[in-house]
Amino acid sequence: MYKVGILGCGRLGSIAANALKEGKAPFCELAALLDSNEDVLAAKSGEFGVPGFTDRNEFMACGLDFVIEATRQNVAQENIPAFIDKGISVVSLSCGAFADKDFYNKTAALCLERGAKVYLATGCLGGFDLASVFQLMGGMQGTVVQYMPPKAERDPKNPMAGFPEEFSGTALEGFNISPSHLNTVIAGALACGELEDARYELRPAQPGMGAFGLEMKNDLSSAKIIISQNTFEMIALSTVAVLNRVTNPITF
Ligand SMILES: NC(=O)c1ccc[n+]([C@@H]2O[C@H](COP(=O)([O-])OP(=O)(O)OC[C@H]3O[C@@H](n4cnc5c(N)ncnc54)[C@H](O)[C@@H]3O)[C@@H](O)[C@H]2O)c1
Repeated sequence: MYKVGILGCGRLGSIAANALKEGKAPFCELAALLDSNEDVLAAKSGEFGVPGFTDRNEFMACGLDFVIEATRQNVAQENIPAFIDKGISVVSLSCGAFADKDFYNKTAALCLERGAKVYLATGCLGGFDLASVFQLMGGMQGTVVQYMPPKAERDPKNPMAGFPEEFSGTALEGFNISPSHLNTVIAGALACGELEDARYELRPAQPGMGAFGLEMKNDLSSAKIIISQNTFEMIALSTVAVLNRVTNPITF
């Protein structure tokens, strides 16, 4: 069994931990938790029956094979290299951390040196496998699309309440609208190639239409993956799905 640790036991990390405890990744077991909030840690450690740490070295000493990162982009940047350095692969939800080219390149070099990997969770998007094929075909244009309701109909508590109703630009320009909330844009854009080449568009939502989509096309083919009603569960479980893809004996 592969040992999995969770960095960040908030909303998404807890859903992933619960899925592991429920045996949703048959070749993986939840082994440890790491969170800077001692109250959260005590509660989650009790709930899931695994040790919880505020100290990263003690956490890593549990013999982890994988860490699911579910914190924030700056925390991801601080911790991911330390895990990779110890040969522990990371499934990251704070994908926006990889919009920083310097961090991306240094982490990639460290992964090659230490034989570990970073997997960017698909979150509330899909079609990354198809995007790889389109890339191989050449001449690909990839676009992350977000369908936004009119401003008047938005929940003011939603962090995306202030987003413009329409936008079209590069993925990097789009990410800068609200870096801490657009991890998905970076993950989807990186699946399509360079951040400067992939696009991000905000489009008006039709009633009942999905929140996020990934579109890809070249001279021969085109594909659209639209995720309707993405949920926090879907986002969190995408990390466990990665673990299954890399640990199952027959995979795709
Ligand atoms: N890729 C996607 O599609 C997608 C979608 C939604 C959210 N996200 C990202 O996923 C991440 C987690 O989101 P969430 O809603 O679960 O957040 P959350 O705020 O509910 O939980 C974050 C947890 O991290 C802990 N934490 C913060 N700083 C820490 C540190 N220095 N060391 C250890 N633990 C620390 C907090 O105590 C908290 O328990 C965020 O970066 C969020 O933006 C990604």
